[in-house]
Amino acid sequence: MSTGTTNSQRVDQFYTVAEARFDRWRTLLQAARTWESWNKEDRANRETGQAAVSKSFQDLRQWEDFFAYPGPVLLKTLQERIDSNDATGTARLAQSISAALLTHSYRTNAGDWESEEGPTSLGDRLPRGSENGGHHRPYFEVLFVSPARPAVCLELAQDLRKLRRSQDKFVYEPVFVGNVEDAILGAILNGSLEAVVIYEGIPFASSHNSPVLHEFLTAHLAATGRADGAGQYALSLAKALKLIRPELDIFLLSDREVEKAAGDVSAGCIRRVFYQVEEPLELHLSILDAIQDRFETPYFDNLQKYSQRPIGTFHALPVARGKSIFKSNWIRDMGAFYGLNLFLAESSATTGGLDSLLEPTGNIKLAQEKAARAFGADHVFFVTNGTSTSNKMVEQALLAPGDIMLVDRNCHKSHHYGAVLAGAFPLYVEAYPLTKYSMYGAVPLRTIKKALLDLKAEGKLDRARLLVLTNCTFDGHIYNVERVMEECLAIKPDLIFLWDEAWFGFARWSPFYRRRTAMGAAALLENKFKDPAYHKAYEAQVKKFGEDLDPKDSKLLETRLLANPDKVHLRVYQTNSTHKSMSSLRQGSMVLVKDQDYHTVEEQFHEAVFTHASTSPNLQIIASLDVARRQMELEGYEMVNRAIQLALDVRREVNSHPLVSRYFRVLGADELIPSEFRGTGFVDYLTPGVNWATAVKALREDEFALDVTRLTLVCGSAGFDGTQFKNLLASQYDIQLNKTSRNSILLQTNINNTRSDIAQLIKVLVEISQGIEKKLAQGGKSAQQAFAARVKSLMEDVPNLPNFSYFQESFRENPSSITSEGDMRSAFFGAYREEQCEHVKLSSPEIDKRIKDGPELVSANFVIPYPPGFPIMVPGQVITGETIEFMRKLDVKEIHGFSASLGLKLLKPSALKKALHGKSATEEEKKLKRKTAA
Ligand SMILES: Cc1ncc(COP(=O)(O)O)c(C=O)c1O
Repeated sequence: MSTGTTNSQRVDQFYTVAEARFDRWRTLLQAARTWESWNKEDRANRETGQAAVSKSFQDLRQWEDFFAYPGPVLLKTLQERIDSNDATGTARLAQSISAALLTHSYRTNAGDWESEEGPTSLGDRLPRGSENGGHHRPYFEVLFVSPARPAVCLELAQDLRKLRRSQDKFVYEPVFVGNVEDAILGAILNGSLEAVVIYEGIPFASSHNSPVLHEFLTAHLAATGRADGAGQYALSLAKALKLIRPELDIFLLSDREVEKAAGDVSAGCIRRVFYQVEEPLELHLSILDAIQDRFETPYFDNLQKYSQRPIGTFHALPVARGKSIFKSNWIRDMGAFYGLNLFLAESSATTGGLDSLLEPTGNIKLAQEKAARAFGADHVFFVTNGTSTSNKMVEQALLAPGDIMLVDRNCHKSHHYGAVLAGAFPLYVEAYPLTKYSMYGAVPLRTIKKALLDLKAEGKLDRARLLVLTNCTFDGHIYNVERVMEECLAIKPDLIFLWDEAWFGFARWSPFYRRRTAMGAAALLENKFKDPAYHKAYEAQVKKFGEDLDPKDSKLLETRLLANPDKVHLRVYQTNSTHKSMSSLRQGSMVLVKDQDYHTVEEQFHEAVFTHASTSPNLQIIASLDVARRQMELEGYEMVNRAIQLALDVRREVNSHPLVSRYFRVLGADELIPSEFRGTGFVDYLTPGVNWATAVKALREDEFALDVTRLTLVCGSAGFDGTQFKNLLASQYDIQLNKTSRNSILLQTNINNTRSDIAQLIKVLVEISQGIEKKLAQGGKSAQQAFAARVKSLMEDVPNLPNFSYFQESFRENPSSITSEGDMRSAFFGAYREEQCEHVKLSSPEIDKRIKDGPELVSANFVIPYPPGFPIMVPGQVITGETIEFMRKLDVKEIHGFSASLGLKLLKPSALKKALHGKSATEEEKKLKRKTAA
């Protein structure tokens, strides 16, 4: 992820792709203008100017081979103008190209493809009429990987253009490359590519300067046997492209036995195989048809049609059709603000072109199937009440009372409530603390393995049904999802995983992050378990540790365990807040399922949907989920790349700015992930010497990685606590953000951000830094001392983060058990009886006395301070001195479940024994208790 400062000539600097391209063109333009400004008689300066322009042009030239615009003809014209000393003509053309690139106008404006001398030699240039009858006609590019000579390629390009018809919904331009490496470079560099046409007979190596990619491909393709046989790379290339961008449509043109190629089972990644000498028309239509497949949004399309029909409504939704609004004397402004379509598209009907979210059989079903394809899942459920609901649905569907759910205590509160609702016993596994920044990291795999092995030792492993982890965490810690699942499955082959990827849904569209998503890792494992080499490696493990692992063998914790590939059941669920990282309306969320035993829980799953989903789901949210999927399948790759690049820009600018960096710092991977979890030695994305290949290695191997788009900005060193700084940014600078800690704020880039946003942020930080400098200079020694004391208090006097203590013994089946799961539901409902509860003020001496001498203080409810936003007390938990100390030091105003005037809500000691055996325990739980006791 080098930002390109080290070697500007390398084309394989993938993290700077799009924006760096614009910058290169602006640099050329600037040089051309300077050249033009020199008087013709001033020969020395004119020559220097020409040389500078020539150099800028050469700097950008090699990247341009991977894009259709400006294309070989305009580039040639530009080169000729430079060579013929035409400064004015060069500046004019550079100006029009760079403006067209920046605004993307070349996608719709035929004029951008022409030099002033008239149309370029390609004649019928593309986007003429791409505004089709007033409708926007999306533009894309198609990569042709062909060994043919350039003249033949130009001819084919002409032929394809001639096939365009005015009724086409999309328009595309071809880009030609001649070898495997360039094809991969093209797919990575050019986000507008939507399809790749591969001809047989292509060579491997590129003539572009891409040493890092070359080394990477040589190592990786060599490992998988890079040629398909007889020096043919087509199929290997198709597979490699699908790994990078699974959404690309790939077509193979073969001049050999096409029937064989089409029948090859390993060619599933190829959409269609053509016989090379046949007409290009079929190919052209197939390309458009494939795009249509991704473009189609079954639910949204139908909703639009529905809204245009004259429908009389006699159902219970007065806003539908908008008549109660647009004719109103008093609320007409609502209609003016939202527009007519919103109301025309409202309905409570589930028929007549619409569908039912609760029991989809029509276009919602289709939309969900398309989403499943896009996200690499077997099934997708759209949810209109946020991931808070998605999580509870999954947990209710998979857990029965008494089941054990291993869960990060620091996870979103929906999971804790999910455990309460399902009656599952949470077994909290602790994330590593980042005390200095008052936040948690993620849960080490060792901790999870230990918990599973302990359960096994206690004979309770069969009850451990689900592992719930947040990936990535709020602060950007990404798990090595593949490894976590593999090693857990080694201990319990049918453990189910729920990855809460509320923040991380976009990651599917980054080739760097995909392997660390639930679905990406599940796909990797699926292949791995089929691999004969894996079976062999597993047999070797059996020889060492036996098939039935001994839970007391401490070596297991140090060993990278393999799962028994014949016994594993891959059961993976993911929830994501589509609204948090993609273009869905608020509350749009999805549940992704890749569970080989899904049929065994399908009924429960539907019950869970019925339990939690509204019977009046919001149609616009459903439609926006459909559209968000379309967008990600067509432009997610480009947008996510940009979000990552912008985040790297913020990191670099803040941390290297001479003034801003005195007070603020964006934390790197090394500061958020202890070195023991960065086995490859990866330090941070912007560390000198780090390139994308180093980052890929870290993403493959390290236990934790950092999502660069989540930026922890330390503000304590500027004398602000997180909340204070958040409020300052919001009230004075109109900058909104999400989360804060005692001494930091969390900024985030996403597919919505632009370079202007980043510039604004940096400008604001400069302004605030200048303000601090001024205040310190004007305030003299006393101000400086006060500032230093404030910084010390925020940065050094930080309270220890309290670990989960333990459930009070009434909520434990066996208090002497080494595993700590507890019956949280009984505690939760125990608190429903007022007479069983008491309140004690936080500052009261009674608290200290009871901590010292008893009886134990047992929380009656969840207590969740914001920040940090995790429950520092859960129902049934014994409150320790550490927790009280933390609570007393907390200086945040928002603490859910706690009223300062009433005090802590506790279960009375007299109520405790009753709680588990009283009415709130279900028959099943009682049975379970009796069984355990026996
Ligand atoms: C990790 C995690 N999971 C789930 C949720 C809930 O998502 P939603 O806001 O879509 O209900 C959140 C919300 O912040 C979250 O941070």
